[in-house]
Amino acid sequence: MDKIAILYGPQGGSTEKVARMLAKAFGEDQVVLIPVKNAYENDLAPFSKIIFGGPTVGTHTWSDTSTKNDWDIFLTRLYKMDLTGKTCAVFGLGDQVSYSFKFVDDLGVIAGQLTAAGARLVGQVESDGYTFDDSQAYKDKKFLGLPIDEDNEPEKTPERISRWVEILKTEF
Ligand SMILES: Cc1cc2nc3c(=O)[nH]c(=O)nc-3n(C[C@H](O)[C@H](O)[C@H](O)COP(=O)(O)O)c2cc1C
Repeated sequence: MDKIAILYGPQGGSTEKVARMLAKAFGEDQVVLIPVKNAYENDLAPFSKIIFGGPTVGTHTWSDTSTKNDWDIFLTRLYKMDLTGKTCAVFGLGDQVSYSFKFVDDLGVIAGQLTAAGARLVGQVESDGYTFDDSQAYKDKKFLGLPIDEDNEPEKTPERISRWVEILKTEF
């Protein structure tokens, strides 16, 4: 199997924790972990399979030029990339309780940008087991990637990851 790139950001929180759990689940020798803020199109060139991960921290921040988080920085590059021929998947960190109407919204934003860049998107997930009111990541009764809620349901994370990895192994 070709190596998989996992692009994640920010570093040091739940997103990085989940990125590392995913790497373990695939087998660390099968995966290259890359902080998203350091990633340019050239860095993605060797990979045909790429997983992207990020939290939702209020979509307003992504268009607010006064604050630049890791995904703000990377999205300005992603807008210009051609990902034709690449197969991509997305995981998103969120909080179903405090942000029930915007649960993992940015997973949907990232997925939309990847599709717009020409990538084939895989790794959709059923909503069983999640409790939320609305999400930009929820389309046609499925999530466009893997939602993870480390704030309220950390105990569900290992199983969610191992189920998703099995899905990706067949769809990648
Ligand atoms: C300011 C702020 C805004 C947030 N907005 C949302 C949101 O709109 N939707 C959501 O699902 N989670 C939201 N969250 C929850 C985060 O996505 C969640 O805590 C995530 O695990 C943080 O990941 P990190 O530790 O990698 O930064 C928000 C958290 C913060 C601090």
